[in-house]
Amino acid sequence: MRLKNLNGRPIIVVGGAGYIGSHVCKTISSKGGIPIVFDNFSAGHEHSIKWGPNELVDLRDSQATLNAFEKYKSVETVIHLASSIEVSHGENFPSEFYTNNVLGTLNLLNAMKNTNAKKIIFSSTCATYGEIDDVPIMETVTQNPSSVYGKTKLAIEHMIESFHKAYSLDYIILRYFNAAGADPEGDIGEEHDPETHLIPNALEAAANGKLMEIFGDDYDTIDGTCMRDYIHVNDIAAAHINSIKAQENGLVSADINIGTGTAYSVFQIINMIEKVTGYNVKYKICKRRAGDLSKLYADTSKAEMILGFKTKYSDLENIIQTAWNFYKNKNERFNPKK
Ligand code: UFG
Repeated sequence: MRLKNLNGRPIIVVGGAGYIGSHVCKTISSKGGIPIVFDNFSAGHEHSIKWGPNELVDLRDSQATLNAFEKYKSVETVIHLASSIEVSHGENFPSEFYTNNVLGTLNLLNAMKNTNAKKIIFSSTCATYGEIDDVPIMETVTQNPSSVYGKTKLAIEHMIESFHKAYSLDYIILRYFNAAGADPEGDIGEEHDPETHLIPNALEAAANGKLMEIFGDDYDTIDGTCMRDYIHVNDIAAAHINSIKAQENGLVSADINIGTGTAYSVFQIINMIEKVTGYNVKYKICKRRAGDLSKLYADTSKAEMILGFKTKYSDLENIIQTAWNFYKNKNERFNPKK
């Protein structure tokens, strides 16, 4: 069900300057659409916007958000990826997370209600599930998030469902598992500041001989480290194109996991990084990180059934190879010590 041509259709991408957002924009453009980026550049980068216009919009400002929507009156579809994402940061700064994520999205939904934008594709997360014994995780399990981050995303899911019922907003909630890897053409990749994610941190450790921290080796998993379902960011981007198509075909509401169905431990990721880069990763075992869950991986059958979605880039070696290529591209004076 991949959409071949978006025929010059404009699509608002909120958070389009970020890691996942920029890959979504590139994919929209490659399918003939025009991504219009709304971003406040708190985490995203202007240099990641290459495929359409952009507006400086901070969702916490309800009037500015409405003004931006009124400027692009004819746009029907909104992809919403803007949020605070660092799980452990949310534990210490919940006010920031609820303001950015929940209040920001409420302002966004109100602006949509007052304009023509009647379809949303929302970037949710497997963190809304919380600790689930029954893996792979199906969309039907009771969501019981333990982190502030997961709670804000679940609150947004509920708001979107309410707007659907009351104001006929069509929605697809995509619950991403762990986005990873980079654009195979090297244009864009993961550039968080500070970087907290496993793969870029482990690449940095491989490249520079720095000691990285592993947060806990006493979880109930194959080797004691946390397990995650790493999905290539280009596959996540493609899921949005499938979602646009599904909405075009009449899908008015759905919540769908976007993962691979396979989980890897922190040590398995490090082993693959050593294989791909040819360098050793030095690490020390530290205490558990606040908000982390032991094992998360997706049941992918709903994505396949409803969206016709299958991953194409998410072989673990390819994920790490593309992330490594991007790392080397952006570090011009890259001169690793073995
Ligand atoms: N980890 C380390 N050392 C590091 C970084 C991470 O041991 O330097 C561990 C973490 O403790 C965790 C695993 O590697 O067990 C993955 O951590 P990430 O920070 O890469 O990813 P998270 O699972 O914490 O969170 C990410 C996104 C969220 C998203 C979530 C879904 O940041 O937005 O994936 O699982 F919701």
